[in-house]
Amino acid sequence: METVAEHPSSLLGKHIVLGVTGGIAAYKAVEVVSRLRKKGAHVHVIMTRGAQNFVTELTFREMSDAPVLTDMWAKVTHYHVEHIALAQLADAVLVAPATANFLAKAACGLADDMLTTTLLATKAPIFVAPAMNTAMYENAITQENIEKLRSRGIHIVEPASGQLACGTSGAGRLPEPVELVAVLEQFFHAAANDTLCVGTKTTECSSVGANGEQKHDLASRKILVTAGGTHEPLDPVRFLGNRSTGKMGFAVAEAAAARGADVVLVAGPVNLATPAGVRRVDVLTAQEMHDAVLAEYETADAVIKAAAVADYRPKERAGQKIKKKDGSLFLELVRNPDILKELGERKTHQILVGFAAETEHVLEYAAGKLQKKNLDFIVANDVSRTDAGFSADTNCVTILGCDGTKTQPPLMSKRALADVILDCVAGAMAEKRKD
Ligand code: PMT
Repeated sequence: METVAEHPSSLLGKHIVLGVTGGIAAYKAVEVVSRLRKKGAHVHVIMTRGAQNFVTELTFREMSDAPVLTDMWAKVTHYHVEHIALAQLADAVLVAPATANFLAKAACGLADDMLTTTLLATKAPIFVAPAMNTAMYENAITQENIEKLRSRGIHIVEPASGQLACGTSGAGRLPEPVELVAVLEQFFHAAANDTLCVGTKTTECSSVGANGEQKHDLASRKILVTAGGTHEPLDPVRFLGNRSTGKMGFAVAEAAAARGADVVLVAGPVNLATPAGVRRVDVLTAQEMHDAVLAEYETADAVIKAAAVADYRPKERAGQKIKKKDGSLFLELVRNPDILKELGERKTHQILVGFAAETEHVLEYAAGKLQKKNLDFIVANDVSRTDAGFSADTNCVTILGCDGTKTQPPLMSKRALADVILDCVAGAMAEKRKD
């Protein structure tokens, strides 16, 4: 069975300084260390005094297989790399979790412990992942500190929303370790390649500007996204469905809205909150998804079809629950509309992006869909992998362009991948403007 080759991680050999501050999410930093090391990175942990209330220094020392710095005044005896301070050794610094107190100190340039001192002394890129109670995070002072850091080129890794340890729910949750690692991996991958698109042409791909601010390169564009699976009813109780959770499509919608687009998200039945600034249209069946998509298509600048649409539905939908009988039950299934194919046939100005969920011959089958359905791009994912495709927080894809480009980002979070896909869409829109 063909599988997409594992790429050597862009983190291989990199020295990552991991700052851990005193938030309940400090326990997640242990997994961040583990995942970074599995990617071949060297991890050097700096713990603030507060962090030591949540996780022991020994845990980090064992996980990183390196000394842990906790106290600036302790005699530094263990860095045998010609006494080069961590600040100079670092290829990147990640502070996760970053508490409100830490953000305030960093924003004011304080240097009263090893972490803040290292931050001031390093020339390496700095990534900060705020994590705290929602009210603290939304407090104007905290937001001012975050913006001050962002304006100085520090990369802010936005917190997730959801249930917090303090019992409340909302923004402020530290992203999962796999996503934090993916942010660093994508950064080094992009830095190593300058572009993410290879093939007949290269396109500068970046969804953030030089000093880390969020780009708004999709402002005044309407982007239509589909997400999730569809339910094809069999009787009032049962349906045919699939394992799509909607994460990929919702990530694309969230990223497009963050970049200024007017986003319409046509969603099958999923358990996800609507991303900020997105207009959501909920559907159940493939036919309903077809009708909702076609209703928006004419005025859309781009369509990104991440939904897992059922190809077939039961020919008969029973009015009452089907009672079980002895022997087998035979179902006749009939074809659903192929929405993407119809969009390709009706395409005028739109940039059309399809997905291909394959378990073998991934690129061959995807290339066939790209051509047969008159697409601009196809995102090919090997859904036989546990860390890609259905329900995973990450995805590993190859993006084929109708102009022969081939984009192969490393395994990354679906949110980071959403920006890579949108970079390709933005590039194609720019090319269209030139024509
Ligand atoms: O939702 P997640 O849990 O995050 O999982 C993400 C995903 C695996 C669903 C996503 O990455 C993905 O691969 N989506 C496409 C799934 C799919 O239906 O692939 P396909 O090869 O069967 O379909 C090819 C393309 O045609 C897709 O863009 C699909 O939206 C579209 N299609 C398919 C059938 C149909 N009747 N109409 C369509 O428009």
